[in-house]
Amino acid sequence: MIHSRALLILISAGAVFCASPWPPSALAAAAAAAAALPAPERLSLLYGIGGWPWRSYVGVANGSTRVGAVPLFLEDGPQGVADGVLNVTAFPCALAVAATFDRSAARAFGVAMGAEQHAKGANVLLGPDVNLARVPWGGRVFESFGEDPVLAAAIGAAVISGIQSQNVSAVVKHLAENAFDANVQNVSMNVNRRAHKQLYMHAFCAAVDAGVGFAMGAYNRVNGTHSCENSALIADLKQGCGFAGALMSDWFATHSGLKSALSGLDIEFPGTQGYFNATLAAAWAAGELPDSRLDDMVARLLLPRIVLGLNADPPSADRNLTAPATNAEHATLARDLALNGTVLLRNEHTVGSICPLLPLNASVLRSIVVLGDNDTVTSGSSGAVIPPYVVTAAQGLAEALPGARVVYADGRDAAAAAALAAAADVAVVVVATSNVESTDRTNLTGWPLWQDALVASVAAAQPATIVVVRAPGAVAPTWLSAVPALLFECMPGQETGASLAALILGKANPSGRLPVSFPANVNGTWLSASPGLPPDARRYPGTDRGRGFPEADFAEELAMGYRYYDSVSGAPAPLYSFGFGLSYANFTLGPLALEGNNAEVSPIKSIRVRARITHEGGPAGATVAQLYARYPAVCNEPLRLIAFEKVFLTPNTDADVYFEVSAADLQVFDVVPDAFVLCSGSFTLLLGASASDFRASVGIVVTSTI
Ligand code: BGC
Repeated sequence: MIHSRALLILISAGAVFCASPWPPSALAAAAAAAAALPAPERLSLLYGIGGWPWRSYVGVANGSTRVGAVPLFLEDGPQGVADGVLNVTAFPCALAVAATFDRSAARAFGVAMGAEQHAKGANVLLGPDVNLARVPWGGRVFESFGEDPVLAAAIGAAVISGIQSQNVSAVVKHLAENAFDANVQNVSMNVNRRAHKQLYMHAFCAAVDAGVGFAMGAYNRVNGTHSCENSALIADLKQGCGFAGALMSDWFATHSGLKSALSGLDIEFPGTQGYFNATLAAAWAAGELPDSRLDDMVARLLLPRIVLGLNADPPSADRNLTAPATNAEHATLARDLALNGTVLLRNEHTVGSICPLLPLNASVLRSIVVLGDNDTVTSGSSGAVIPPYVVTAAQGLAEALPGARVVYADGRDAAAAAALAAAADVAVVVVATSNVESTDRTNLTGWPLWQDALVASVAAAQPATIVVVRAPGAVAPTWLSAVPALLFECMPGQETGASLAALILGKANPSGRLPVSFPANVNGTWLSASPGLPPDARRYPGTDRGRGFPEADFAEELAMGYRYYDSVSGAPAPLYSFGFGLSYANFTLGPLALEGNNAEVSPIKSIRVRARITHEGGPAGATVAQLYARYPAVCNEPLRLIAFEKVFLTPNTDADVYFEVSAADLQVFDVVPDAFVLCSGSFTLLLGASASDFRASVGIVVTSTI
């Protein structure tokens, strides 16, 4: 076997947070501009003017010609320009982008999303959402980057850097623990400090490190207090992560004027509630809002305009909400992201064959029937995008197979669908559901029941049945064992059919990996008080203990997602693990070796480990090297993903991935002294194909002393 070895070097995702990425000169310029404004003008910058629910930008805020500060024009866009705007690209959703496990793909997604906002005249994109997917059926999981802080931090930072390369500021949202949507306007997410800092704040700090201009407070309360007036929470962002930009409220998530301002909220949106508009001027005149805080609010609002190029690139007449923003290049990117973010979950052989069903051999296919959903490719509410078109699965396959007969039927008549399937060489069934804000799914499917019946009857009639699931988060289908092949697309965007055809026919090799665990059923998660029980209402969706609002305790603490399956005694196995995904190629992961026999990590010493990845046969393709750390029992820390790298290999080649592991990757949060610290002992680093499939390991020693 000929080995051509590529050398990849990776500095792992860990970082020491808490210093602003912006130069002191920019901070000084923003402070000077704030000081140059008369008080009425300073006060006029603190609230949105109009916007939602009127059909213009979803938010607008004043600028100041006196100091060259442009007005702010805000639009949503976790998967493309949202809020009913036309002529935009419907990209795959954020969760699908996380499933690529590919920072450069995530950055390209950010660049394109920023460019489309820019074309539409928006200079602030209301995203990304870096909350972790704590509730697998939560309403906004599709907008998130999954259940792991290191993945969400890395993908989120890459998306932000892409967006902000276009003279558009990103808005990291929704601070914080915005974990589900049931009663979200009122519920308190009760979380302990260690889980808050290690899990839920990590990607917010990474966003700050990536230079995000704005952050958005959440609807929910955190530990009893609404996010937008929660001084401890806001301090964790501003002081803890070093955020020097401005914190905006979510839409109608402000609950007070002066209290919110003194707690750290810098601007109220959409502004129609009137807290900051009506009450802050009076509070300032009465001396209750000190000049120092008013100056700070204004400087924070001016800073992103200065450092992110907003002032240098003011809105112009040709950039407006009706301007075309989508283009052929973005459509290609939408297809490529869907290709890279689709996860092949199951690929069995059919009776009489020794080969897995996929990829199909295009040269022998005469007929394909496509059944089921045709147009569910995005989710709803502020995350919704109106696609200019949708390449359906049938269209994609017909285009790719000019010599074959491709038939489509919606499949509502299960008996007719089964007859069509039996008469074809292969059946593809698309099962789909989406989500809107304020509602969680009620189970781990969510699609209409007739689609379950459709799969059952088609699979009974046609052994070569491929099921494609489009869903805004984890699913646990009841018919899994009846179908040989299953692809999970998340919400795939407008190019779904083109990407599916390429994957099904082997023109592309699946390389997506699950950014969330797929529980076996709703009783199989960390939301149950004991393994196997139904979700505990005290954990989700919360119970009212007499304080006048529901309280949801994050009682699982760190044991959320794959951490639960790995660390909790008696926990059931998930249906599919975090990080799992199949390929048409065979890869060997390992060995994992220390460079230079240096096995010690300390506050000042890092180590470098080498992971060998070998392509052992099949088509060219990518796999994801996932590096996990297992802690000694004394640290009371579950399994942790500490780094990952996507590796593309041509047949029969290999590559070495180097991971730099430092104190920042391994430290844990200690409530005394309220800081990240190293826990000493013998650790194991594991090279995984998923969070439950480890292929190689190496021991290291961690010491907390210098
Ligand atoms: C959502 C935000 C969104 C805002 C503006 C709210 O309902 O929670 O994510 O950015 O609306 O549309």
